[in-house]
Amino acid sequence: MKIRLIALAAALLAANSLFAQSGPKDIIPAPVQYEITQGTTRLPQAKDMDIRIGEKKFFSRIKGFGLEDWQVKSAYYLELTPKGLHIEAADQEGFFYAIQSAYMMNFVSPDIQCCKILDWPRFRHRGMMLDVSRNFQPKEFVMKQLDMMALLKMNRFHFHLVDHPGWRIQIDKYPLLTSFSAWRTKNDWQDWIADGQRFLDRKDPAAEGGFYTKKDIADILAYAAARHIEVIPEIEMPGHNYECIAAYPYLSCMDAEGKEHLKRVQELCPGNEQVYEFLQNVLKEVFAMFPSKYIHIGGDEAGKGNWAKCPVCQAKMKAEGLKSVEELQSYLIKRMEKFANDNGKTIIGWDEILEGGLAPNATVMSWRGTEGGHKAIADGHDVIFSPTQCYYLDYMQARDQYRAVGAYQPLKQTYSFEPIDENIAPENVHHVLGVQGNLWTEFVNEQWHAETMLYPRLFAIAETGWSQPEKKDYDAFRTRAMTWNKVLDYLGYCHYDLAPKEKDGN
Ligand code: ACM
Ligand code: ZN
Repeated sequence: MKIRLIALAAALLAANSLFAQSGPKDIIPAPVQYEITQGTTRLPQAKDMDIRIGEKKFFSRIKGFGLEDWQVKSAYYLELTPKGLHIEAADQEGFFYAIQSAYMMNFVSPDIQCCKILDWPRFRHRGMMLDVSRNFQPKEFVMKQLDMMALLKMNRFHFHLVDHPGWRIQIDKYPLLTSFSAWRTKNDWQDWIADGQRFLDRKDPAAEGGFYTKKDIADILAYAAARHIEVIPEIEMPGHNYECIAAYPYLSCMDAEGKEHLKRVQELCPGNEQVYEFLQNVLKEVFAMFPSKYIHIGGDEAGKGNWAKCPVCQAKMKAEGLKSVEELQSYLIKRMEKFANDNGKTIIGWDEILEGGLAPNATVMSWRGTEGGHKAIADGHDVIFSPTQCYYLDYMQARDQYRAVGAYQPLKQTYSFEPIDENIAPENVHHVLGVQGNLWTEFVNEQWHAETMLYPRLFAIAETGWSQPEKKDYDAFRTRAMTWNKVLDYLGYCHYDLAPKEKDGN
């Protein structure tokens, strides 16, 4: 197929001349290979765009590199000459990434070195997670970050929609989740905790918060799909569910006498059949909204002390022959996995889902370091690495950073993470789906602050997710990140300021 798309030239925004010249060296993530050719060119003045998708010529160009089918779909060849722009790809996805590379150079400077780029991704999951429970963000903010993800060739947006401090997605069957559990006495998470962790009716003049309607979710999904980004929703269970219990107290455990439901607790009661009915009803509506094959079911940090005392949990453990509260959590996760699988979905869970026995088809998100991921891989499961020590974007970038989780994680540390090491047998490497950065928002209230935590560290994660390991070089990357911080200013994004070089090991 040959498409001539002269109109597309006009769609490539004319950038300010932030720098005298741009070229493939400015692209983040670094391309697999490129060659500089004679002259410079300007995209909007390109006389012609020659776009070829799915032609034999491209397949012969990438032959011999041993690419997997999903890599072939994302691969592209881009050639810029004084006469114009030539793109080859196997699929629309590769064409989209070629355009992102062209955009990237154009934003740095419209005077672009003529070049030839051949490129494809290293990992299939190049993700970013945003916690909109602790701090709600309007859909426009989410879309703005999707724009940057697309430029960085990131393709998975993990939407942390529900958690202890707020439920953020319309579920018709349980209206209190959004008329009550999405609205707080205080917008700021720390203030809310200090104020007694109270929710308010949506109509209360003091109520602060928000949620996404089904229409909002559809808008976000359409926006993401146009950028080849898959949105993976997370519905937490069986911990971090304080907001569900605040709205529907029958979901919590009973006291030791079996008289009353516990109040102000985080964990659902895995002994109670009504909990399964609630979770399945919620998931049915979530599945109807999100086309992703994945559903993230959380699974992290569930305190299990109440389960050991609750007569309903104890009865369930006896009936099912479960020997520990860890096995009780595993029982819940496995039941929910079966429900998800029966509905055509694959579950992802934080690495706690390994405890008490891993659900048979689960993908594990390794966050407490990498050990959980290594164990899951050895057992034949797919894994996404988002280890706290490198990919927790709520950690400090500078020792004097404004409000952050105490641990220190400068850009260099984020960049240093290598997901494939000697702990993974060569025959199991295909179980490494990729990498993901997580922005939790306990300490991140303002939009400028969220962007400052994301950028430029997200650049580093994008590069590890896409670029070949031998292309990684921190000093060269840092130079590009400095360039891109200037582009972020131009595009209206906030970011952490990397200068001067000596500062804080960045
Ligand atoms: C997590 O940070 N609790 C997954
Ligand atoms: Zn219970």
